[in-house]
Amino acid sequence: MTQQKVAVVTGASSGIGAATARRLAAEGFEVVLTARRTDRIEALAKEIGGRAHTLDVTDRAAVDAFAAGLGRVDVLVNNAGGAIGAETVEHGDPADWLAMYQVNVLGVLHMTQALLPALRASGDGTVLVMSSTAALAAYEGGGGYVAAKHAAHTIAATLRLELCGEPIRVIEIAPGMVKSEGFAVTRFRGDEEKAAAVYAGVAEPLDSEDIADTVAWAVTRPPHVNIDLLVVRPRAQAANHKVHREL
Ligand SMILES: NC(=O)c1ccc[n+]([C@@H]2O[C@H](COP(=O)([O-])OP(=O)(O)OC[C@H]3O[C@@H](n4cnc5c(N)ncnc54)[C@H](OP(=O)(O)O)[C@@H]3O)[C@@H](O)[C@H]2O)c1
Repeated sequence: MTQQKVAVVTGASSGIGAATARRLAAEGFEVVLTARRTDRIEALAKEIGGRAHTLDVTDRAAVDAFAAGLGRVDVLVNNAGGAIGAETVEHGDPADWLAMYQVNVLGVLHMTQALLPALRASGDGTVLVMSSTAALAAYEGGGGYVAAKHAAHTIAATLRLELCGEPIRVIEIAPGMVKSEGFAVTRFRGDEEKAAAVYAGVAEPLDSEDIADTVAWAVTRPPHVNIDLLVVRPRAQAANHKVHREL
């Protein structure tokens, strides 16, 4: 068994996950990059000396097969996720709500259940859940995403209680506005104009590296230190709906 610590990052093909993979490799981890877009994770794995595994976190059988062939795991970063649509609750499409639940909630559940035995065996495991400030407060048009991220927050909180006494810590990072590669484009179904409007006039939104920095800090604390919940926003955002824009 390798002495190098191993970190599995889901959604490592883009944005926060890709930045996290890069940063954890720089911190000395062997990084296992997972996502659906194989070309992207293979290229990044090559660059940082990691391993790439094509994986859809909503596919339980695929997650179990991935876990079975994995070996040592010290850190699981449950990052894959995102928002689809910005409709009101009245007009939201149940299919979008289901898709958001599948990736943001069941994806975390599948990965965590499948990797807990290896994390436990490591003697000092970390489960990290990338939630959102949408996990903590509602906003108009947030509907299904707010609901899904509240559920992800609840998984982290419940798991921390259930694992108390075991050598596994559970960290939740809740970012506010991050100008990542794909988040707003996915939310607005590829409409680049609407996606750009999310960050319009915001001089300095967070970028993916800012969040990767908090992940690296949280997972490299001494094992007895558990960063339960870290809320990270840009200075220009005081609440989900309170954003300073210079327009
Ligand atoms: N950007 C923000 O403002 C913000 C704020 C708070 C929280 N977050 C959260 O941060 C996380 C990363 O988002 P981001 O901003 O970096 O967005 P992004 O650039 O769109 O990245 C999303 C990542 O999730 C992966 N993904 C999506 N569905 C997946 C699935 N079914 N199976 C496996 N991977 C899947 C994507 O990879 P593939 O498409 O290749 O599968 C991609 O790598 C998400 O959980 C998001 O909700 C973002």
